Amino acid sequence: MVDDHPVTIPQPQDPRLALPSLTSLPSSPLNGSVRVPGDKSISHRALMLGAVALGRTRITGLLEGEDVLCTAEAMRAMGAAIENRGGGEWVVDGLGVGGLLAPERPLDMGNSGTAARLMMGLVAGHDFPATFTGDASLSSRPMNRVIVPLSQVGAVFEASEGGRLPLTETGARDPMPITYELPVASAQVKSAVMLAGLNAPGDTVVIEPKPTRDHTEKMLTHFGAEVRVDELDGGARRITLKGRPELKGRDVRVPADISSAAFPLVAAAIVAGSDVTVTDVGLNPLRAGVIETLTDMGARIEILDRRVEAGEDIGDVRIRAGGLKGRTVPASRAPAQIDEYPVLFVAAACAEGDTRFEGLEELRVKESDRLAVMAGGLKACGVEVEEGEDWLVVHGVGGTGKTIPGGATVESHLDHRIAMSFLVLGMVTEKPVTVDDASPIATSFPGFVPLMESLGAKFQEN
Ligand code: S3P
Repeated sequence: MVDDHPVTIPQPQDPRLALPSLTSLPSSPLNGSVRVPGDKSISHRALMLGAVALGRTRITGLLEGEDVLCTAEAMRAMGAAIENRGGGEWVVDGLGVGGLLAPERPLDMGNSGTAARLMMGLVAGHDFPATFTGDASLSSRPMNRVIVPLSQVGAVFEASEGGRLPLTETGARDPMPITYELPVASAQVKSAVMLAGLNAPGDTVVIEPKPTRDHTEKMLTHFGAEVRVDELDGGARRITLKGRPELKGRDVRVPADISSAAFPLVAAAIVAGSDVTVTDVGLNPLRAGVIETLTDMGARIEILDRRVEAGEDIGDVRIRAGGLKGRTVPASRAPAQIDEYPVLFVAAACAEGDTRFEGLEELRVKESDRLAVMAGGLKACGVEVEEGEDWLVVHGVGGTGKTIPGGATVESHLDHRIAMSFLVLGMVTEKPVTVDDASPIATSFPGFVPLMESLGAKFQEN
């Protein structure tokens, strides 16, 4: 399938993102109103569900970052017609549930755990083999968490050592509807099981001990599937999907990604004199932990024009600098802010007093070991931290009269959020902070550099 507008993306919007190293300079106040790119989780799901729905799905505001483009390519390789109409508008002509075709080449999932794991779920319900590959970061991430339940559905896997990529999955001839209790709080695993259940007869049931982002449930309902969610004791949930639904193509408007919004929001909270609004932000309660944590820490944050679109909460988020205080950030909030910890650690470094973050075990298996990499980078910049197996204490300099020295070069480890977090930190340090390789930012936040510059941030290419 040929793109009508092949030049819009995937090229990073700022040529400096293609350079290996980028330095963040101390910043004057950040001011203005911006819209960050579309939500990554919703973008992946819109393309995937569009591909297994009958008829046409129109997506506006799609994130055109590398991760989502991998999903688009993989869905094309399995027969969906996907057209980029430019300006974030994409059209998908789907094949119906169970209608995907065997890909003739390996599916390259790039850096994206969501693309890989959700796609394995889809393939599990189709009687053909598919090979999944990815970059060095993705090839080191655990896939047994999806291999185990998808094998129960009937898929067969030949994986690299330790259940890693590259791997070949052969989907089930007769997919079984399963009942699966998640051993880890993971929306990716939940979604993989549900997507496999689409082409299984009868009810597929997922029980999650802690609620995780529910975009799959919401979007499946939007496309016409029957999904029931029962609240169980202690905050657990049971999600039941009726198999073999007739999914129909729909319109999907993707809100701005709260996980990307977190970077300008924290930057504005820590750079003295700042006043920034990020518009159209997805505020799904199972994603909005970062707002709760910043509010709890005393940030001067407000939500304007709160509204609901296609079942998702949306609002404009305004934040003004100052007020941050150290707090204990409980493990119970982890699933709702799992991707925002790196930049929350940066906020904590500037807060008055100590912040203790608990329940961080999943950070160790993200695009990098985010607990170790952030702790190491913060120390290199002169922030005092203590790291445990699943916790981190950050000693904030706020109110002490001390500053954060900075002056370090931090390795991003192929991890977009590590790169952006240290570029935010460098806005308030004595000496500039350099990130050795800023190119991974293009996986989730194309245009990060010019957007931050439009607010007043300063970067220097090396
Ligand atoms: C995602 C779920 C989260 C998150 C990831 C996106 C999703 O991963 O970290 O960036 O879209 O379902 P886990 O479900 O593995 O925690």
